[in-house]
Amino acid sequence: MENQFDVIVVGELNADLILNHISTFPQIGKEVLAQDMQVALGSSSAIFASNLSTLGAKVLFKGVTGCDMLGDFVVSELAKRGVDTAAIVRNEQTKTGATVAMNFENDRAMVTYPGAMEQYGAEDIDSDLLRRAKHLHISSVFLQPALKRNLLTLLDQAKSENLTTSLDTQWDPAEKWELDLAALLPLVDVFLPNEAEIKWLTNQPTVESALQHIGGYSNTVVVKLGTRGSVSCHNAVQTHVPPFLNSEVVDAIGAGDSFNAGFIYRYLSGATISDCQRFGNLIGAISTTAPGGTGAFTSRSAVMKKAKDYFNYTEK
Ligand SMILES: Nc1ncnc2c1ncn2[C@@H]1O[C@H](COP(=O)(O)OP(=O)(O)OP(=O)(O)O)[C@@H](O)[C@H]1O
Ligand SMILES: [Mg+2]
Repeated sequence: MENQFDVIVVGELNADLILNHISTFPQIGKEVLAQDMQVALGSSSAIFASNLSTLGAKVLFKGVTGCDMLGDFVVSELAKRGVDTAAIVRNEQTKTGATVAMNFENDRAMVTYPGAMEQYGAEDIDSDLLRRAKHLHISSVFLQPALKRNLLTLLDQAKSENLTTSLDTQWDPAEKWELDLAALLPLVDVFLPNEAEIKWLTNQPTVESALQHIGGYSNTVVVKLGTRGSVSCHNAVQTHVPPFLNSEVVDAIGAGDSFNAGFIYRYLSGATISDCQRFGNLIGAISTTAPGGTGAFTSRSAVMKKAKDYFNYTEK
């Protein structure tokens, strides 16, 4: 069956242990208390897939977990939101990773054990699988060295099967930022870095110069600017779209992935880039109204109610 899914997400799966309201930053040899804790679906790819599915897209996830409690948890969280999990491989040779996130108001400190995501290189993805979807999304390439090595092949395969593609590199924990953008970006329809990431990736001092730097070979580029919204570069035109400001942020975990979900949801229906950006900004802002990356995304109607109640947004 062809195009049974809107989007195939290829990527990493892990769980988040989120500690809130910490008295001070933890120090070696000492102990501090958190006043609240959540265990939530983690990993950029999984949060994107879950929230995109909640918005109403048909989403297939391809990745790997260990055969352990955290693996059961992430797969069941995805399934609960309607993501197809049948293609997720459960591997006994590895452990599902986790991130411990310590929240301090708008920002956080995080420690990640990558686990299974380090080994998955997408070698088992073939044309038959790709043909089941219209769009391929990839995230967190620096956390997935095997996938990073095969990225060009995978994007090439997707393009030859006529899928549209999107990529969010996310942060490079090694801070080396080694990625051949000139080879990759011609195969990426929508490139979705944040401000710091695009500057590091291009070694440029500003977002504007970074966009110019890659403009000769990139397609649509959308840069997430946190509380300043987002800026896109499409057909050499840069467009800034202001945010839906949330003054009572619970946490900013997954705001970028939620932005991606909102943007790609509209992109799939053929909306203009600025309309996709506006919806991305809205979905990013909604993410900040509840804990973790998926807390605000229990159902499409709950999301649209928040859009109205918090941001006075109603769909046309
Ligand atoms: N406090 C906020 N209020 C309203 N909207 C916000 C807020 N923080 C983020 N957003 C929205 O979410 C989008 C994505 O957030 P951000 O720029 O933090 O992405 P990111 O750095 O990629 O995040 P992540 O760490 O999740 O990968 C922003 O472009 C903005 O539209
Ligand atoms: Mg991000």
